[in-house]
Amino acid sequence: MAQLWGGRFTKQTDEAVKAFNDSIGFDKRLYRQDIEGSMVHARMLGKQGILTPEDCEAIVKGLQGILDDIECGKMEITSEYEDIHSFVEANLIDRIGDAGKRLHTGRSRNDQVALDMRLYTRSAVEEVRTQTLRLLGVILDLMEKNTDTFMPGFTHLQKAQPTTLAHHLGAYFEMLRRDCTRLADCRVRMNECPLGAGAMAGTTYPLDRAFVARELGFDCPTRNSMDSVSDRDYLLEFLSDLSILMMHLSRFSEELIIWNSNEYRFVEMDDAFSTGSSIMPQKKNPDICELVRGKVGRVYGDLMSLLTAMKGLPLAYNKDMQEDKEPAFDAIDTALACIPLFADMLSTMKFNKDVMEKSAMRGFTNATDAADYLVGKGVPFRDAHGIIGRLVLHCIDAGKGIEELTLEELQKFSDQFEEDVFEAISLRACVNRRLTAGAPGEAAMAEEIAACRSWLQAQ
Ligand code: ARG
Repeated sequence: MAQLWGGRFTKQTDEAVKAFNDSIGFDKRLYRQDIEGSMVHARMLGKQGILTPEDCEAIVKGLQGILDDIECGKMEITSEYEDIHSFVEANLIDRIGDAGKRLHTGRSRNDQVALDMRLYTRSAVEEVRTQTLRLLGVILDLMEKNTDTFMPGFTHLQKAQPTTLAHHLGAYFEMLRRDCTRLADCRVRMNECPLGAGAMAGTTYPLDRAFVARELGFDCPTRNSMDSVSDRDYLLEFLSDLSILMMHLSRFSEELIIWNSNEYRFVEMDDAFSTGSSIMPQKKNPDICELVRGKVGRVYGDLMSLLTAMKGLPLAYNKDMQEDKEPAFDAIDTALACIPLFADMLSTMKFNKDVMEKSAMRGFTNATDAADYLVGKGVPFRDAHGIIGRLVLHCIDAGKGIEELTLEELQKFSDQFEEDVFEAISLRACVNRRLTAGAPGEAAMAEEIAACRSWLQAQ
C-alpha cells in the first residue's frame, strides 16, 4: 500500500500524475521529525485515553524500530510511497498491524507536515547560527592579531582614510553578529507547535495540544487552526535571514577576491583553499569566494520562489505548499555548505601586512589628517581642505606622498606647518588618534574587541 487515501477512488492514479504529485523524493529527509512527531502524538493519544495503553506502546515501539532501521541503513526510503508521512505510516502498519492504523486519529497530514517542517527548520536555524558563531570566532581571532596591521580604508573603492585590518574585519563581525541575532529572533517566533490543528478546523477528539508542544520543545501550541496549517511565515523569515547572511558573505568574498588579485596582493589564499587553471600554469584562483558569491543567487531565488508560491493562496492548506520544501532545503544546504568553508578559508589565509601598510601610505589616506592638523593650528576646516587639496595636486605631479615633502615645501602651501606635522600625519598617528567609539584607533578598537569577545562567549 503506497497511498493513504484509496477509498473513494475507482481508478488507479495515472503514473504521470503520481510522479508529479509525490514529494517523497525530497521530503524523505524529514523522516526523523515525522517519526518523533508521531511518537509524541501517539503518547498524547494514550494519555488522553483515545488509544489503549497497549496500542500506544506498540506504536511508539514500532516507530522507534523504523527510525533505528533507517538510521543504521537497514531500511531504505523508497519512492513507491507518496510522501514521508505515507512511508512511515504504511511501514508501521506492516510491522504492528491494526494498532498502526490508529496512529492518524485526530491528525491530518496538513498539521503533520506543518509540524515536521517546523521541527526541521528549527534545527536548521540552530545549525546555521552555530556555524555563523564559529565564523565570528575566526574573525574575532584575526581582529585581535591585527589591531596594528595598517591598511587603506576605501570609499568608492578609492583609498579614503587609513585604518587597520582589525577594524575592517570588525565591520563583518557586526554584520554576522546581526545575522545571529536575526536567527535567534526567527527561532523565537517559529517555536509554536501546529500539531492538533487537524486538516484546518481542529478536531473533535480531546487532544492535549500543550503536552505535544512541550514534549517537542515548543514554547506553546499555535493558535488559529487555519493559520496553523497554512502558515509558512517562519520559513520565509528564515530564508530572508539566510539571504541577508549570504549577502554579507558575498560582500566579504568580493573584497577577498579584490585583495587576492595580482594588483592588490593584500592576501594570499592557502593552497588547500584555492584552485588552478587547466591552461595557465601560473594561476591560483579564489574559487571558494567566487562560488560563495555565486551561490547567493540561489538563496535569493529560493526566497523568491516561496514568496511567490504563497502570494495567492486562499486559506487553508493548498498543495502549492508542498513547493516550500525544495527551496527551503536548497537554501539551508547552500548556507551550510558556504559558512563553515568560508571560516576555514579565512583562518588559513595569509595577510600580507607589509603590502597593506605600503598601500595605506600611498594614495593620500592621510590628507584628512593633514587638514585636521591645520585646523589644530587655527585654520578654518574649509580653508584647510582647500590648502591640502592643492598640496595633493602638487604631490601627484611630484610623485610623492605628503609626508615625503620637506617642511619648506609644505610651508609654501601654509605657513602654519611646523616640524610636528610629520608625526601628526604618520600612519600610526592617523589611525590611533581616531578614538570615537567604533573607530580604528588602538584604544577604541581594544574596547570594541573586548565587547565582541564577551558577547561571543555569552552565546
Ligand atoms: N506532501 C505534502 C506537503 O508537503 C503533505 C501534506 C499533504 N496534505 C494533503 N492534504 N494532500 O505539503
